[in-house]
Amino acid sequence: MRISEKLLLAVLINLCLVATSIHGSASNTGRQPYIVYMGEVLEHGLVPEEQHRSLLTEIIEDESIARESILHSYKRSFNGFVAMLLPHEANRLMEREEVVSVFPNTKLKLHTTRSWDFLGMPLTVNRSYKIEREIIVGLLDTGVYPESPSFDDKGYGPPPSKWKGKCEVGVNFTGCNKKLIGARSYSIGHKTPHQSPADTDGHGTHTASTIVGSAVNNASLYGIGGGTARGGVSSARLAMYKVCWDNGCWDSDILAAFDDAISDGVDVLSISLGGVIRDFYNDSLSIGSFHAMKKGILTVCSAGNEGPYLLTVSNLAPWVLTVGATGIDRQFRAEVRLGNGMKTSGLAINTYSPTKQMYPLTSGIKAANYSGPDAYPDTCDWGSLGEKHVKGKIVYCAPGGIYQDYTIKVLGGAGTIIAGSDFNDTAFTFVLPTSYVDPKVGNLIDKYINTTKNPQAIVHKSKEVKVSAPFVASFSSRGPNYLSPRILKPDITAPGVDILAAFTMLESITGEPHDNRFSLFNIISGTSMSCPHAAAAAAYVKSFHPHWSPAAIKSALMTTATAMKVKTPDAEFAYGSGQINPVRALNPGLVYDLRASSYIRLLCREGYNDTKLRLLTGWNHLDCRKFQPARGYDGINYPTMTLQLHHPTKNYSAVFKRTVKNVGTKNSVYKAIVKSPKGLSVSVFPSTLAFNRVYQRKSFKVELKGEPLISNGTGLISASLEWKDSTHRVRSPIVVYKVLPYQVAG
Ligand SMILES: *[C@@H]1O[C@H](CO)[C@@H](O)[C@H](O)[C@H]1NC(C)=O
Ligand SMILES: *[C@@H]1O[C@H](CO)[C@@H](O)[C@H](O)[C@H]1NC(C)=O
Ligand SMILES: *[C@@H]1O[C@H](CO)[C@@H](O)[C@H](O)[C@H]1NC(C)=O
Ligand SMILES: *[C@@H]1O[C@H](CO)[C@@H](O)[C@H](O)[C@H]1NC(C)=O
Ligand SMILES: *[C@@H]1O[C@H](CO)[C@@H](O)[C@H](O)[C@H]1NC(C)=O
Ligand SMILES: *[C@@H]1O[C@H](CO)[C@@H](O)[C@H](O)[C@H]1NC(C)=O
Ligand SMILES: *[C@@H]1O[C@H](CO)[C@@H](O)[C@H](O)[C@H]1NC(C)=O
Ligand SMILES: *[C@@H]1O[C@H](CO)[C@@H](O)[C@H](O)[C@H]1NC(C)=O
Ligand SMILES: *[C@@H]1O[C@H](CO)[C@@H](O)[C@H](O)[C@H]1NC(C)=O
Ligand SMILES: *[C@@H]1O[C@H](CO)[C@@H](O)[C@H](O)[C@H]1NC(C)=O
Repeated sequence: MRISEKLLLAVLINLCLVATSIHGSASNTGRQPYIVYMGEVLEHGLVPEEQHRSLLTEIIEDESIARESILHSYKRSFNGFVAMLLPHEANRLMEREEVVSVFPNTKLKLHTTRSWDFLGMPLTVNRSYKIEREIIVGLLDTGVYPESPSFDDKGYGPPPSKWKGKCEVGVNFTGCNKKLIGARSYSIGHKTPHQSPADTDGHGTHTASTIVGSAVNNASLYGIGGGTARGGVSSARLAMYKVCWDNGCWDSDILAAFDDAISDGVDVLSISLGGVIRDFYNDSLSIGSFHAMKKGILTVCSAGNEGPYLLTVSNLAPWVLTVGATGIDRQFRAEVRLGNGMKTSGLAINTYSPTKQMYPLTSGIKAANYSGPDAYPDTCDWGSLGEKHVKGKIVYCAPGGIYQDYTIKVLGGAGTIIAGSDFNDTAFTFVLPTSYVDPKVGNLIDKYINTTKNPQAIVHKSKEVKVSAPFVASFSSRGPNYLSPRILKPDITAPGVDILAAFTMLESITGEPHDNRFSLFNIISGTSMSCPHAAAAAAYVKSFHPHWSPAAIKSALMTTATAMKVKTPDAEFAYGSGQINPVRALNPGLVYDLRASSYIRLLCREGYNDTKLRLLTGWNHLDCRKFQPARGYDGINYPTMTLQLHHPTKNYSAVFKRTVKNVGTKNSVYKAIVKSPKGLSVSVFPSTLAFNRVYQRKSFKVELKGEPLISNGTGLISASLEWKDSTHRVRSPIVVYKVLPYQVAG
């Protein structure tokens, strides 16, 4: 686990989870920031701040404490506030009728260019330029580096007239331009070194340029991954909301960013963050994205980097597009040569070119300093090696270590060969010449060191090699969905392995203080990188279909997705509907549309309280009982169908009800094509849908009948329904699985 923690850390880049002190005066002793969420904005009556103050004075007797406790009021796009509360005060607020939820302010974490070509979107792809230029993509991230050539505004007109956002100036941030039209930063309920939207991490610059970056020729990381770097909607505009700092990304700031972004006029939101799985009412990303959806804005989120373990996927709300990570067809490998002529290679983004023919080679165990702390020298643990054995040498480290590159760099080593099997699909950047080799290869290198008088080696700069793709990255979080087992998550996948995109010059490429490499482009991995690819695809679809709902855009992306070339046993739990295919998504033929009321129906079915749902929706007459009996098994017109079995040893059956809308040709006839494995029968009624006008809707039923699931684990079985006419294929995966012993029953 040790190395995977380290490598995961590299995936999450620079996240450094140090708690900071909380605002507070003497009267605030013991108080902590809580989010008090109150649903839809008030239509009339009280000014929100007054409502918040008067509510709090009923709970906290001392009026001056009550007044001082409020840190921020949300009021533009939804209603609520952040306040310093004691636990019993939070509980009392939770009982109030006008309050939906109260939860402690929690910290979330941050979870080319070849990738767009690989996705079938060459530089010359058809574009709806006129509309694309009016599209504003909002990001909640670590800020942005405005000097990056990816955000050059040459040739851009003024911001779209609908734009109501702002551009803050601050430390290392002189302002916006006609491409980067908005930038704000937030720090509510915690301290930050300064207030500025400048990107001191690199993550936000990277994700933003993946979506909207202008084409930059000859971009590379020290010559690696070279080519034209660009975003998927390279003429769209960018609005950055900085919510992540060195100490993480707080709920209070995330909600403030949503409150602004929705009212500022963004068209699509891309959010590469996540954290603990919480109920929708207690989760800032679910709350914010719900209000965004109501205003026609699709929120795209990363699935998380906790794979390949099951039940790890986060950002589970059905109104969010949740994106897992795939690898593209190129891999970065660093070649290793030994003094005996042996030649091999390992995954790594090694920017260093050797300056000698050969270097002396040793191993951690041979370079041990046993008078140091009692650690594991074989894996090159911190403190376990002797400087004089390491200086000037390449050091081989056995599998299982952590921070080996850092340890060896500090001791003056010339490089390292690290053996390990935690990652075989993702290349990471190290602080000195490094190759990450397979343990079997490592063993040969170790043997060579043990049996040779003056062992020697060299680690070369990384080169690209072609690999089979797409495949799901091992780190990409897997389903099933912990909160709503009837909704498949992740929804979709997009490239997230070793992605080249713009970077900040305010941080080194590894984020390590001992690294003096700074670059306008960097290669990094994570579902954080896949999320902006899907967000760009959503913006691309929107530029051709500006009036489509968030659910229609989501459906178009999901039903046209590409199948994986390399299969994984977790199948749909790893890749959802498949990998985005932006060009196909422009013309899906049919869409599974959804309105806000459909999501409310689902929440009703999942037992959410009517009183609270009324606040959430602003619909005073909402009555969950009216939605009974439910429409089919899952009660929602989702583009995937998922059945969870509680009694897998019995035969089962279920009916899914769906409605599709014709967005293709006026007169079209679609036939149902079903694929299902032995033991599961799938029937569709009717099995032909004939349309005679655009936007016409047709409903159908999908009936599953199956035999017991006997295989171990989730028992996952994959089937599919495809509606096919002469030009379109509208595909929905159908998944049946059994409840895991440790999974909450749904
Ligand atoms: C929300 O969080 C609060 C405080 O931690 C907790 O008491 C409450 O049960 C949670 N509500 C839901 C619906 O999970
Ligand atoms: C671009 O659009 C035109 C007109 O709509 C169409 O004829 C052409 O096939 C499209 N090209 C590509 C590569 O999709
Ligand atoms: C960032 O701001 C600090 C403080 O103003 C300054 O010392 C530093 O040179 C700036 N860095 C860059 C890259 O502009
Ligand atoms: C491309 O970039 C590389 C590395 O940054 C540089 O050495 C080279 O001169 C550049 N080539 C052109 C044509 O600009
Ligand atoms: C070994 O560790 C001891 C204790 O930390 C230190 O004093 C000594 O210099 C180290 N020896 C080498 C060769 O680095
Ligand atoms: C990585 O390892 C897994 C499990 O051992 C294997 O299934 C997969 O094919 C490997 N992937 C690559 C790219 O070698
Ligand atoms: C190399 O020697 C060390 C002890 O010096 C031993 O622990 C290790 O297993 C040996 N490696 C191989 C591959 O024989
Ligand atoms: C919903 O919440 C309200 C206020 O917290 C409470 O009075 C009511 O009993 C709850 N309704 C149900 C059905 O649980
Ligand atoms: C399950 O269904 C199969 C036919 O699909 C039937 O042969 C079998 O007897 C059924 N088993 C049970 C336990 O009902
Ligand atoms: C399923 O579990 C049983 C009992 O734990 C075990 O004997 C069997 O090998 C497992 N089968 C597979 C396919 O993993």
